[in-house]
Amino acid sequence: MSVAHAQPSILAGQLACGQSLSFRLGLDKDPRPALARLAENFDPSYAILGIGSPLAAALGVSIPGLRAFPAITGPGLSVPSTQQALWIFLKAPDRSGLFDAAAALEWLIDDAFELEDATETFTYAGGRDLTGYVDGTNNPTAEEAPGVALVASGAGMEGSSFVGVQRWAHDLALFRSHHVHVRDNMVGRRHSDNVELKDAPETSHVKRTDQEITGMMLRRSMPWAGARDRGLEFIAFGATLDIFERSLRRMAGDEDGIVDATFRYSRPTTGSYYWCPPTVAGKLNLTKLGIS
Ligand code: HEM
Repeated sequence: MSVAHAQPSILAGQLACGQSLSFRLGLDKDPRPALARLAENFDPSYAILGIGSPLAAALGVSIPGLRAFPAITGPGLSVPSTQQALWIFLKAPDRSGLFDAAAALEWLIDDAFELEDATETFTYAGGRDLTGYVDGTNNPTAEEAPGVALVASGAGMEGSSFVGVQRWAHDLALFRSHHVHVRDNMVGRRHSDNVELKDAPETSHVKRTDQEITGMMLRRSMPWAGARDRGLEFIAFGATLDIFERSLRRMAGDEDGIVDATFRYSRPTTGSYYWCPPTVAGKLNLTKLGIS
């Protein structure tokens, strides 16, 4: 049963605080001792761990379905790839818990991995994007989620998941400068009651990402905000990366030239894919990486 083997935090949903950490592998560093420590000590009940294609390549293993995030271009826009070796998403009910979770992680990672980026995320206004629109409404139900997010079978694969992680930076002043009807049309839902617009334009976000066209994904995105910049850490899990990628290509106008209105007020600044290994008895199962 794949649910029993999943990293539980994937299905559990987000808490008040999060931190998205990405690491590169130090040149000429052997990742195996750190991975063996992670297999033994990483607690998947408060964090999610993903393996990127550079790490799989360094280990000389092939994970079926894992690939590097592609750089994509569309009419007037570009979507960058910033693929890293390792991704860890920490979650906690408050800032203190997040601090403790990060501290517990430090000694596990060792000097084999070098921190590329650490961005704190938070639940805004009960689950809204910083634009004020509810995010996650059309997510799969709790019953549907395992079928959408988890790999169903395969030795060392059952219960694992693939994730697309992409940071978007919003121009909120620009977004807010538009009348609410224009904003609703960009999103494809009414801000006042979150109802989907029947006559939403083809450029609206919900039309571009219509899951009846692409198939479903399990979104676990969270807002982030610094003093100057702010936006959404987009995080979506799937049994395959193909649905996320088709959705993103449709947003970028790569499929039919129609660009998602999201690009009018936000732009992607990072993009990477990871494979989230399964668990066994509450610990990471890294046998597929040759770590036992
Ligand atoms: C600036 C970045 C983004 C923002 C602010 C954003 C926000 C939203 C909002 C407000 C909704 C409507 C409510 C809901 O069903 O959740 C939505 C729907 C959705 N978004 Fe995004 N999103 C962003 C990027 C992305 C990306 C990069 C993808 C995938 C590549 C994506 C995939 C989806 C999907 C699949 C839906 C549901 C569509 C449906 O109704 O079937 N979003 N998003």
